[in-house]
Amino acid sequence: MSDEPFAGLFKESNVFAQREVLSPHYIPAHLLFRDSQISEIVKAITPALRGERGRNLFIYGKTGTGKTSCIKHVINKIKELSSVKARVSYINCRIYNSRYRVLSKITSDHMPLYAKRGYGIIDIYERIINWVDEDGKILIVVLDEIDVVKDLDDLVYTLTRANSDIKSGGIAIIGISNRISFKEDLDPRSRSTLYEKELVFPPYNSVELSTILKDRVDRGFKPGKVDPAAINLAAAIAANDSGDARLALMIISKAGEISDEKGLEKVTGEQVREASKEADEEIAYELVNTLPEQQKLIVYAIALLSLQGSRYKKLTEGTDTYIFSGEVYNKYSSITESMHKDAKTSRWYRKYISDLEMQGIIHTYESGKGIRGHTKLIKLAYPPEKIKNTIEKTLFKENEAATNGGAA
Ligand SMILES: Nc1ncnc2c1ncn2[C@@H]1O[C@H](COP(=O)(O)OP(=O)(O)OP(=O)(O)O)[C@@H](O)[C@H]1O
Ligand SMILES: [Mg+2]
Repeated sequence: MSDEPFAGLFKESNVFAQREVLSPHYIPAHLLFRDSQISEIVKAITPALRGERGRNLFIYGKTGTGKTSCIKHVINKIKELSSVKARVSYINCRIYNSRYRVLSKITSDHMPLYAKRGYGIIDIYERIINWVDEDGKILIVVLDEIDVVKDLDDLVYTLTRANSDIKSGGIAIIGISNRISFKEDLDPRSRSTLYEKELVFPPYNSVELSTILKDRVDRGFKPGKVDPAAINLAAAIAANDSGDARLALMIISKAGEISDEKGLEKVTGEQVREASKEADEEIAYELVNTLPEQQKLIVYAIALLSLQGSRYKKLTEGTDTYIFSGEVYNKYSSITESMHKDAKTSRWYRKYISDLEMQGIIHTYESGKGIRGHTKLIKLAYPPEKIKNTIEKTLFKENEAATNGGAA
């Protein structure tokens, strides 16, 4: 076999010095413009460091506003302090998405020997309580992306209940979410538990994003390889879109890849513009992938209808396909039925539609009088074919796993 296919791998980049500095997993040594949020988090956990439970904290902010980075930063600082009673479990709820998984993760973090044995939930619960009680620990449970926990009310109830079963010490919860409607959809009891204290992360403006990018570009790229105008453009695009630092970083790093592919010596505004288009789509697919199931099914219905073309009533404006909201609902109901699931009522459906619009996945507009009275028209913001494929990959795989007994 010739080495040819791998040749590109070893070719030195024209523009990058350390690619990984730009990766989404890289944790920057210092976080810019987040001093006040970091000090609020520290304030919230100070009681825990003294051995008191303090109040639960809820952190809300749009995607890419630095929530995960800041909390990890603070956790690393706590771990450096020796001899504190506070222990932390950072839990990414996308992976640990049920009460059982969260409690298991806590035991595997702190009681690794016990954790291996596949106990039932009551055993795990008692084990955690005894461990906290032993010497009056304060366990801080950080639930990042808390909105994806399937049985969240049970989890919150269990952790609250634990505090009344624990004699000395306690458990404090830090919840983190980027979903706007999360708070209002919560069960009132869970809400009052989780929101004892609330902290909001605002989106970054373009000046802030520029500074964040410059800092990262200085370390990730070779000197002089990124046009300052390109940085400002990437920052402006991301600020205009959502104030998302992850998007800004993704754009500049893709722009670097494009420059390399084309053998250019420098990253300019042109590559940034090209990169921003690619990044936009990538983010949309990721967003669709992480939607709750019912919303995913609605988007799926819209994608199918958009692809089916003329059999369905549609309105063609140039090349855009708009579909009647009522048809989407019918399609969605029949999909859920074929999956042996219950469709949500049309009231929920309308709420989901407005959530999806807010997230930029669909566009809607009200038809004027004449077309079936007043009705809403819906269009996908991204190519339906790709959306359909993305959803089929995740949705049907998950359901297969569930019916094959993919237990807790
Ligand atoms: N203040 C900052 N300074 C430097 N880099 C930052 C800052 N805020 C965010 N970033 C970078 O932006 C990216 C996204 O940040 P982070 O993951 O913390 O966002 P998030 O608010 O948790 O988003 P999500 O809601 O999508 O989980 C990370 O790669 C991080 O390095
Ligand atoms: Mg995060």
